[in-house]
Amino acid sequence: MKKSVIYPGSFDPLTNGHVNIIERAARCFDEVIIGVAKNSSKNSILTPDERVYIFKKLFKNKKKIIIDQFEGLLAEYVNKKKIYTILRGMRTVQDFEYELQMATSNNKLNKKIETIFMVADGNYSHISSSLIKDIIRLGGDASNFIPKIVEKELRKKLLKKG
Ligand code: COA
Repeated sequence: MKKSVIYPGSFDPLTNGHVNIIERAARCFDEVIIGVAKNSSKNSILTPDERVYIFKKLFKNKKKIIIDQFEGLLAEYVNKKKIYTILRGMRTVQDFEYELQMATSNNKLNKKIETIFMVADGNYSHISSSLIKDIIRLGGDASNFIPKIVEKELRKKLLKKG
């Protein structure tokens, strides 16, 4: 039986930290489904379609990595896909409380759901999507933290907004 995992997130934008988790997950699972959340409560910069476009370009030759989007409850999406393992990255203890709440809530919504965590690589545990947006908005160099295509798309968007 195929071992699949769902890696959900807002990915606004995707960072090298996320890429690292995805690549490591692809070594542990037969299939990694990236679930780009359409209705994140966060104020997003990139539209869901733009985020999906970035993923598709970046992972176009990786057969194990499937790009998808979802709207509404993660627990329902998981149920629809019939893949009950969720993967999340854990950077610091600050992430723990939020992740614990989400993992517990998802499990309460559907007993079949298990959330597993991958510890973020030390090179990326200090970065976040908000930090990247700030760096670019203020004219800084974020090239060490995000893939080139993300930087290009973000610059287009943020610099246009002014
Ligand atoms: N390296 C670097 N940064 C990382 C990282 C890693 N390995 N893992 C996470 N991050 C950062 C991201 O950059 C992001 O930073 P930000 O807070 O500044 O934006 C943050 O950690 C988390 O973002 P992301 O990984 O994109 O996920 P998220 O927390 O935005 O995603 C959902 C949350 C979409 C999974 C959750 O809101 C959800 O399930 N929504 C659907 C509705 C629902 O079911 N709600 C009830 C849930 S119980």
